[in-house]
Amino acid sequence: MTPQSQILLIPKIECGYVIDHIPAGLGIQVMALIGCHPELEAAVVTLGLNYKSTRMGRKDMIKLQTKSLPPRLLQMLALVSPGVTIKRIANYEVVEKVVIQVPELFDNLARCINPNCITNVEPHIGTRFKRLESGSRHFKCAHCERVCTLDELAGHLKA
Ligand code: CTP
Ligand code: ZN
Repeated sequence: MTPQSQILLIPKIECGYVIDHIPAGLGIQVMALIGCHPELEAAVVTLGLNYKSTRMGRKDMIKLQTKSLPPRLLQMLALVSPGVTIKRIANYEVVEKVVIQVPELFDNLARCINPNCITNVEPHIGTRFKRLESGSRHFKCAHCERVCTLDELAGHLKA
């Protein structure tokens, strides 16, 4: 048995959201996304890195004490770390679990990787990327038709 003195507990939260099953190493990047949302400025946030997980080996996890999550943050998560689970907590209980999927369409979330794309020349023009096919991690720019991978788009997030 583990002696009491060796157990370091991260407290459960009364109300808010747990972003669970973040692949180990991506937690810091997800924290940076959270930091870009002024709506979450007042939220109490706990970051856990490298937890043991039977399914993933190691995982990162973030707990946010906030009443709601900005929709744009969820869309960015779908780009940066699809597969994470959002667990909504109310009265200390997990009341909802949603696994974030890769969507068919990204609007105004990332810049095109083609420097000559009209959206890079005229930055006020919105970007749109459409998934090539269901299950694919490749997206086509609706303006210049350049195919970008999910990772490339995640590296070109708009501010
Ligand atoms: N949690 C929390 N505050 C609560 C309730 C749960 O912070 N009031 C956190 C726990 O610390 C844990 C996660 O939410 O990290 C637990 O989620 P749960 O779905 O109950 O756990 P599992 O069933 O083990 O998760 P899964 O099968 O999705 O891996
Ligand atoms: Zn383009």
